[in-house]
Amino acid sequence: MAKAKNKTIFVCQSCGAQRPRWEGRCSECGEWNTIVEETFTDGSGGFGGKSNPRSWVNTSSAGAQVLGLDKSLNESRMGRSFTGIGELDRVLGGGLAESSFVLLGGAPGIGKSTLLLQMAGGLAKNGKKVLYISAEESINQTASRAHRLGIKTPLVEIASESNMTLILDLAEKSKPDVLIVDSVQTVFVPDVTSAPGSVSQVREAAGQLMTFAKKTKTAVMLIGHITKDGNLAGPKVLEHMVDCVLSFEGDGSSHYRLLRTLKNRFGSALELGVFEMSGLGLKEVMNPSELFLQERSQNRVGSSIFCSLEGTRPLLCEIQALSLSSSTSFPRRTSVGIDLNRIHLLTAVLDRHLGVKLSFNDLYVNVVGGLKIDEPSVDVAIAAAILSTDANKPLDADALFLGEIGLTGEIRAISFPEIRIKEAMKLGFKQFYLPAYNQKHFEDQSLLQKNHVVFMKSIQDLARKI
Ligand code: TYD
Ligand code: MG
Repeated sequence: MAKAKNKTIFVCQSCGAQRPRWEGRCSECGEWNTIVEETFTDGSGGFGGKSNPRSWVNTSSAGAQVLGLDKSLNESRMGRSFTGIGELDRVLGGGLAESSFVLLGGAPGIGKSTLLLQMAGGLAKNGKKVLYISAEESINQTASRAHRLGIKTPLVEIASESNMTLILDLAEKSKPDVLIVDSVQTVFVPDVTSAPGSVSQVREAAGQLMTFAKKTKTAVMLIGHITKDGNLAGPKVLEHMVDCVLSFEGDGSSHYRLLRTLKNRFGSALELGVFEMSGLGLKEVMNPSELFLQERSQNRVGSSIFCSLEGTRPLLCEIQALSLSSSTSFPRRTSVGIDLNRIHLLTAVLDRHLGVKLSFNDLYVNVVGGLKIDEPSVDVAIAAAILSTDANKPLDADALFLGEIGLTGEIRAISFPEIRIKEAMKLGFKQFYLPAYNQKHFEDQSLLQKNHVVFMKSIQDLARKI
C-alpha cells in the first residue's frame, strides 16, 4: 500500500482561501494575519476526500432533468418534518426540509444544545427518528439534560463522538430522519491534521455532512459557535455551503432568546422566533408584542411605540429617548438597538426643520427588550420620542408611530401598514400616526374608520399633531 503523503498549504482562517505560501494579508478577502499553515494527508484536501469511500457516495451523476416536464420535479417532493416547536418551524420556513443542511449559530451558553435537544423530542413525537451527536458533552450529560427536558423516547438516539468518520458510521447504521451534530468546531476529520475548529477541519467536516444530507435525504442540523465579535467562528464558506443559517441570540441578563434566520433557501430570510429560557428548557413566546410592552412605565415622556416587521411577523416595541443638558462641550449620543448614524441624521433633521436644538444636550435612545431595529420606518417613532423628551410632554399611551423620515423632513411611505396596525389593535392601540403616502394604497379601509388615524407628510405635521 502506498504511504499517504503529507501536504502543507496555507489557509486563510477568514475566507478559507488556500495559498501555496504564507502571506501577511489574504489576497482573497483582504484580512491581515489570517493565513495559517495547515497539513493534509494527501487526498483529503477537498470535500468528501477519497479516503473512506461510503455506500451513499455514488460516483456517477444522476444526469440532468427538464424542469417543468418532469412531474417528479416539484415542490411536494421535498418533505417537511415538523419540529413540534412552532416558532422554530416558522423560522425554518414551515418545518425542517428533507435533506436540508442547517447551521445554528450562537454564543456559548445561549441555549443551542437545549433548543436542538427539545427539537429532537418534538420530532420524535411526530414519528421522526433523530440521532443527536454531541462532541462536547458525554452521553450521561446529554441524557440527564434530555430527561430533565422530559424527552424519553426510543426514537431519539444520543451519542458522544467527535471523530467525523465514526459519526458518519453511526449515522449510516442508525439511518435517522434528522442528524444533529453539536458542534462543528469540536468535531474533527482524521485525515486533516490541523486542530478541530480550524478552517480546513470545519470545511471538511461540513462538506462531509452536506454530502451525507444530500445523498441520504437526511436533514442535518449543525451547531456552530460565534466569536466575540458576533461572527460565526470559521470561514464564510461554511455559510455558503449550508441551506439555512439560524442565529440564536439574547443578552446575558435576560431570559429571552431570539431565533433569527440569516439565510434560508426554503423560506423567508427575515423570520424571527422568540423563546424564554426557563428551568424546564426553552418555552415559546406566543405573543412577543405583549412581552416587549409589559414593563412599559407609566411615565410616557420620551417613550413611543413602533411596530417592526420581522419577516412575516409584526412585533411591537417601545422606543425610549432621553435628552438632558450636557456638562461637556461634546454632547454624548448613545443608542442601543438602533444604528447611531440614524440618530445623528434624525437630530440634524429635527434641528434644521423644527428648530429642536439638541447641540448642547446629551441624547440617549434605546429600544426596550434588547431588540435591534434596522428598518427606516422606525424614524417617526424615534422622532416622536425625542420631541417628547425635549418638550417634557408625554405621548398618548395608545398611539403607534410609523414612517421613514428623509433629509428634507418629508415622511415616506412604509411597507405593510395594515399588518402592523392589526397587531397593535390586538393590544388596544387606537391612534395611528402614518405617512400620508400610505393612505391611497390602503386595502382595508375599515381599519382607518375604526381608529383615530393621523396622516403626515412632513415632520412638521408630526410635531403639530402629537
Ligand atoms: P446550552 O443549551 O448548553 O447552551 P449552548 O449549547 O448554546 O452552549 O444552555 C446553557 C444554559 O441554559 C445554561 O446556562 C443553563 C441554561 N438552562 C436553563 O436555564 N434551563 C434548562 O432547562 C436548560 C437545559 C438549560
Ligand atoms: Mg452546547
